[in-house]
Amino acid sequence: RFADVAQAPPDPILGVSEAFKASTDPNKLNLGVGAYRDEQLKPVVLSVVKKAESKIFSRNENKEYLTIEGLDAFRKATVDLLLGGDHPAIKEGRVAVVQSLSGTGSLRVGAAFIARFMKGATVYLSNPTWGNHRNIFGDEGVEWKYYRYFDADTVGLDFRGMVQDLQAAPPGSVVVLHGCAHNPTGIDPTKDQWAAIADLCKERNLMPFFDVAYQGFATGDLDKDAYAPRLFVEKGLEIVVSQSYSKNLGLYGERVGALVMVLNDKEAATRCLSQLKRLARALYSNPPTHGARIAAEVVNDKELFEEWKGEMRGMAGRIERVRGELQRSLESKYPSKDWSFITKQIGMFSFTGLTPAQVDNMTNKHAIFMTRDGRISLAGLNSAKVDYLAEAIVDSVRN
Ligand code: LMR
Repeated sequence: RFADVAQAPPDPILGVSEAFKASTDPNKLNLGVGAYRDEQLKPVVLSVVKKAESKIFSRNENKEYLTIEGLDAFRKATVDLLLGGDHPAIKEGRVAVVQSLSGTGSLRVGAAFIARFMKGATVYLSNPTWGNHRNIFGDEGVEWKYYRYFDADTVGLDFRGMVQDLQAAPPGSVVVLHGCAHNPTGIDPTKDQWAAIADLCKERNLMPFFDVAYQGFATGDLDKDAYAPRLFVEKGLEIVVSQSYSKNLGLYGERVGALVMVLNDKEAATRCLSQLKRLARALYSNPPTHGARIAAEVVNDKELFEEWKGEMRGMAGRIERVRGELQRSLESKYPSKDWSFITKQIGMFSFTGLTPAQVDNMTNKHAIFMTRDGRISLAGLNSAKVDYLAEAIVDSVRN
């Protein structure tokens, strides 16, 4: 009976955008959702996207269904981006890829695959992690647990805790790893730590599932940001990867991404692809055309690809600049506290350490909207608002 349906809680991230929209405060600032804004705090459509679109429109293509696995040019572009073109796994046909609905949709196809073909496997998520991971695996009926990740004392990685927890995970478990720019903490393992995690996955027979949502956004360099998944493949591990073009190509609402499996065996890749298609068909039938055409156009065209890299460096650079400005402003307003963590963290976010009560103060008193885990999206900050934000943080921390 519909009358008995309980109210669902607002989404921890997208619910913040709803609350921001409803606010009438003239000073309101949305640092909730991870969506890039320019210095005027306006959403950005990249120049390469506009150019790709005009090429696409001039071709006057139809709107027929794509195949279940998606646009071939897009699938090729996506794997090239992830592994680097000409990778042996690509040449040897060991990669299964389905175009899917950005990061979330791709993760969900992966979760459905785990539920069906890795029955009883537990998925290990970093503590903390992106809020939607729990929903995605939980809604597929996949059991999940946390592994230690964030160390509040050092505002760094609790590497020892992470290793201990993964060592204790039963063989056959799945480990969700953030490819780069960990969301929400902005703290990534070092190269040596990645190597140790890869070795541990191999020894313990754990399946790495990379969430790659920020390739090109962490450092402004697509190759550097793909370091971890490439290293795992180099070490002979089979990996599953969800990829998103929401942030790096700014295609948020177009829902563009992919679920990729890099395997050691061509026949297994063929069979896995057939099963991914079976799952996708029942979930959403086949993926949308427009965004995939844009991504394929940009990645497969030398000139647009170079221009895109420049635009990505521009976005990553603006975020880095406001990071520095925020740290300096906080240091001048509250010099006795160490704020250096802000520029040590990378990617779109800063994990401020603000408690839920302090976050409430930020929102209720200062109209600064952010998630209750203390994360702020620096992509939604500009120079003009840095001091305002710093004052609100200091006020919230002091009281
Ligand atoms: C975020 O973490 O803010 C983004 O990934 C947007 C989302 O879908 O939650």
